[in-house]
Amino acid sequence: MSSAKQPIGVFDSGYGGLTILKEMVKTLPAYDYLYMGDNARAPYGPRSFDTVYQYTLQCVQWFFEQGCELVVLACNTASAKALRTIQQKDLAKIDPHKRVLGVIRPTTEVIGEYSRSGSVGILGTTGTVVSESYPIEIAKFFPSLKVYQEACPMWVPLVENHEYDKPGADYFIRQHLNRLFEQAPDIDTLLLACTHYPLLMDKIRAFAPAGTTILSQGNIVATSLKAYLERHPEMEQRCSKNGSRTFYTTDSVQDFNNHASLFFGEKLESKHLELL
Ligand code: DGL
Repeated sequence: MSSAKQPIGVFDSGYGGLTILKEMVKTLPAYDYLYMGDNARAPYGPRSFDTVYQYTLQCVQWFFEQGCELVVLACNTASAKALRTIQQKDLAKIDPHKRVLGVIRPTTEVIGEYSRSGSVGILGTTGTVVSESYPIEIAKFFPSLKVYQEACPMWVPLVENHEYDKPGADYFIRQHLNRLFEQAPDIDTLLLACTHYPLLMDKIRAFAPAGTTILSQGNIVATSLKAYLERHPEMEQRCSKNGSRTFYTTDSVQDFNNHASLFFGEKLESKHLELL
């Protein structure tokens, strides 16, 4: 364990985690953050369990090599397919004092508080939905809650190609919402269980039944991180607080800088990282 304080690591397959980091920065502005997007290998959503696990582990190790003591997987697909194995198997071997957190647990801890009908809908990538991580985790906190899922593989490309607010997006938004509500018309709460979907919020709100509660994860994850740091002063003391934000991408710096503001809400400068 290094004695110097270190930034909080924030990982995503690409740009999407910036929607989570944006809320972390709002809630916990004093901390230093080191963000890395594995854009060269994104999207993770359609990839196999083993591939997502191997890629995520390699990226987590990079954060640890930079000195980070705490890393947040700000990616649903990585949280669904890699987090548990990293927490239960790899951390003990790499450094038992370091911690890796995800975005699924914070959301599943609170989702039941929003539903009156007792039926909630999860919208995510194919990888997240197939992993069954949400139904499994939600059952631990809200055993009687009925959970319905819909994979929306077209939604990430719509956002990444800047089609998220264009009329062409309407077809795919309606298609997946219809499929979800056909499973259970009494769903009254939707969780946007993918980092990109907050950008589709206006259209999802327009096409979901009136009165549906729509949850995006950024503020939930940020609030949970705040509570985690309060509960774990030994970790909080190892996190540096100079208000700095540093960004790395495994692909083109130019592309990252051009696209990032859509997700982060402000312009940023990234550096290139070659993962070998
Ligand atoms: N960040 C991913 C997630 O939240 C979406 C993008 C991808 O498929 O890589 O699931």
